[in-house]
Amino acid sequence: MDLKLKNKVVLVTGGSQGLGLASARSLLAEGARVALVARHAGRLAQAVAQLAEEGWKDVKAFAADLGTPQEAERVVAEVEQALGPIDVLINSAGAARRRAPSELDAAAWSEAISAKFLPYIHAQDAVLRRFGERARAAGQTGETAPQREIGAIVNIVGTGGKVPSEPHIAGGAANAALLLATIGLAQYHARFGIRINAVNPGVTETGRIAQTLQSQAQRLGVSVAQARALGESALPLRRYGQAAEVADVVAFVASERASYMVGALVSVDGGQKSVL
Ligand SMILES: NC(=O)c1ccc[n+]([C@@H]2O[C@H](COP(=O)([O-])OP(=O)(O)OC[C@H]3O[C@@H](n4cnc5c(N)ncnc54)[C@H](OP(=O)(O)O)[C@@H]3O)[C@@H](O)[C@H]2O)c1
Repeated sequence: MDLKLKNKVVLVTGGSQGLGLASARSLLAEGARVALVARHAGRLAQAVAQLAEEGWKDVKAFAADLGTPQEAERVVAEVEQALGPIDVLINSAGAARRRAPSELDAAAWSEAISAKFLPYIHAQDAVLRRFGERARAAGQTGETAPQREIGAIVNIVGTGGKVPSEPHIAGGAANAALLLATIGLAQYHARFGIRINAVNPGVTETGRIAQTLQSQAQRLGVSVAQARALGESALPLRRYGQAAEVADVVAFVASERASYMVGALVSVDGGQKSVL
């Protein structure tokens, strides 16, 4: 299936590693032009070099802390100046630390919102403002069905926003807030030709898995290797997910092949949290 992503301009936040980098790979394979955003310039440079070795020589990288709306606005403007109008935003920047419920004080709640919720919202707001202007310029006022798609946003959120788990309550609450914002904004913006959806991974093999397993091991009083074996054996597929398995779904949801998907929350968790 041709996803029709050729030459589309895609901004991937959190693109220097993990699910963001894997999503960049899937989108590049479909012919998209990709910009990566993360805080640390060194890791971004490594990601660009890695992609170049794999044959993707034209990836642009921009350092920014999306924790502030000003930085999000600045970097989105810079990306558009370098690559042209953004067609697709993939949000994958940030993640809340896992903590036992007994450790959840005011600072920890605030940290979860700052680390996960706000970077997504800031990037999304900056891109939505531009999508909105383009919709108005195209005469897509919302009264009748939009003639063409102006842009798409995929928020990589997490099944922890749908079902609570003990060490992930604050991060899960930030995820739940993001899922609600995704659905609510999707319903509003669809009339202008703007699609917003979320992809919810379960535990996936990225750099973050070490922290997840460490916190599980501590909670259960077992070794990290035992925590992994216990975690994997409890899953319907008996293994954690690979980043590429999430990334390919992200690319599809971002593409116009998913043109009737609006406010969908797509689980890619190997059946881990099978909820209605
Ligand atoms: N991996 C999983 O098992 C899993 C499961 C469910 C949901 N998720 C969610 O999926 C998303 C990606 O996860 P991941 O495993 O790929 O995480 P990761 O490997 O830790 O990557 C996170 C990325 O976000 C960037 N980042 C973090 N804070 C940022 C900020 N304020 N501004 C700009 N960039 C920022 C990081 O680079 P810098 O540090 O250089 O900024 C990095 O590129 C996260 O939201 C995570 O909660 C992951």
